[in-house]
Amino acid sequence: MKYSIDLKVPSSQAWLDAVMADFDSFLQDHADCERKASAMATSLIAKYPDRQRIIPPMIETAIEELEHFQQVFALMQRRGVNLQTEMKEDPYIKQLMPLTHGGTPESRFMSRLLLGSVVECRGCERFKLVSEAQQDNELKRFYKALWTSEAKHGNIFVELALAYFDEKAVYTRLHEMMEFEGAIIENLPIRAALH
Ligand SMILES: [Fe+2]
Ligand SMILES: [Fe+2]
Repeated sequence: MKYSIDLKVPSSQAWLDAVMADFDSFLQDHADCERKASAMATSLIAKYPDRQRIIPPMIETAIEELEHFQQVFALMQRRGVNLQTEMKEDPYIKQLMPLTHGGTPESRFMSRLLLGSVVECRGCERFKLVSEAQQDNELKRFYKALWTSEAKHGNIFVELALAYFDEKAVYTRLHEMMEFEGAIIENLPIRAALH
């Protein structure tokens, strides 16, 4: 069942060209993103231990993201690519964070869940583009499997928000957040990275 909404702004060809031109750098950044996505799911549990409904799916999501990290890392090892030694700040995530500030504790909880969906939906769109552009069969298959998994995650966060909040409030906020995300994506410096 689809709960997530469509992105407002598609990723540019310039972004895809930059990724395809330096795929090793993209893999290094991608590995970091998966590890951070796993940490994000467990941090939601740490922040909201009383929200029983989110705990099992967030544990499951954290495990799946960690498995993605394991898979990207294995792929990198086969290709002789090392992990990045310096963790650069993700400009995309940094610019999205204000979406979870301000308001009431309840609205922050909703925004935190919905931000999870927004980020997953962008990841899903970009992995699909990478999968379609890849000539290497192993990478093509890998990114295809990943985009279907991230699409599932994009739905889980909205489904959880709907378990706690009114449908109209959830979708009004989700549309606002997607607009905000679209403006960030349009102005993000182009690099061989997931964002
Ligand atoms: Fe993932
Ligand atoms: Fe994901």
